[in-house]
Amino acid sequence: MAAELVGRGMTDLIQIGLGPWGLDWAANILPRLPDVQVTGWVDASPEARAAFTAKTGADNVFATVEEALGATGAVAAIAPVAIGAHAAVARQVLEAGAHLLLEKPFTLDAATARELAGLAERKGLVFGIDQNYRIFPGAPVVRDLLERRAVGAVRRVSLEWHRDHAGVRDANSLIELAIHHFDLMRYLFGREGMAITCVPVTPVRSAQDHTPGASLIVELDGGLTIDYVLSSQGVGPQTPWPGVWRISGDEGLLTWGAAPDDHRAVSITDAAGNVRAVEVPELPLFERAGVLRAFVDAVAGTGEPTSPAADNAHSVAMLEAALTSARTGERTKVEQW
Ligand SMILES: NC(=O)c1ccc[n+]([C@@H]2O[C@H](COP(=O)([O-])OP(=O)(O)OC[C@H]3O[C@@H](n4cnc5c(N)ncnc54)[C@H](O)[C@@H]3O)[C@@H](O)[C@H]2O)c1
Repeated sequence: MAAELVGRGMTDLIQIGLGPWGLDWAANILPRLPDVQVTGWVDASPEARAAFTAKTGADNVFATVEEALGATGAVAAIAPVAIGAHAAVARQVLEAGAHLLLEKPFTLDAATARELAGLAERKGLVFGIDQNYRIFPGAPVVRDLLERRAVGAVRRVSLEWHRDHAGVRDANSLIELAIHHFDLMRYLFGREGMAITCVPVTPVRSAQDHTPGASLIVELDGGLTIDYVLSSQGVGPQTPWPGVWRISGDEGLLTWGAAPDDHRAVSITDAAGNVRAVEVPELPLFERAGVLRAFVDAVAGTGEPTSPAADNAHSVAMLEAALTSARTGERTKVEQW
């Protein structure tokens, strides 16, 4: 038995959501943690249940959360479920007394997110959100450099994301993707969102409207402003999923990410133009596997999820402000509490 597993019991959980992303979780992520056992699977759609059974051979597949938890006695659930069902599924799982790891975006409004985080707290349950971009190896390195003021006082920040990806181009890219970047802004700078001005590529009058990208001005507390471009059209080299960050301070320029598709590149350029590459150590487990590890450990009583729901509600507040700004054309304050 691997040294890190000594003393760890098995954690039984159910998986809710058997669509494309749920299939990926089942095939590529959940099997990587030997102390995690999925004992039941749930999807509201008969077609999705049949397709999942045909692909995986799983036999314990249910139509509802209640049936699955009742039949398996699992203590926890992971939910890569359709965005429109996030709030209802979270309520079902938490009311039933099970811990929950829910896919992003937690919800589309901060009030619902806060209410659900409060429900988990009252019931003493672990509730995490899969905001997996925090678990790219460059993320803690950049956060640490900023904490240590490696480029002095930060004056300007730009973030560019560009990929030709149908899952973003043919969706509401703010909901699908910008939530990751809002969350990374909070994580990297340790500041909260204050106001957002968002110009979507095509009109976004409701959350159901698709848009392939947007230009945004994001104001964080302490007077820091981020120019953020989210793009899935036009010819250009692909950025890595967390994007390309340029963070300019009084004593240097910190960059994270490089096109094409290099999420490990971190460097500091000094005022004289000398470039120093920063070492980026591997993480024990990369992105979703790392999120799952922390969640399962928290369920076992050690540590906390990488993105606790109560914290993630503040990232949701930024998404809510971006959607309001996209709809109204106005600079929109981010709700604080
Ligand atoms: N973290 C990431 O980087 C990342 C990447 C891709 C997708 N996602 C997220 O994963 C989730 C799932 O993505 P997807 O593309 O598979 O979604 P999807 O829209 O295809 O839906 C997944 C499944 O949820 C089922 N479902 C809907 N309502 C339900 C309910 N009330 N109870 C049970 N099942 C229900 C649907 O039948 C469907 O099979 C979304 O939240 C998405 O944002 C995250």
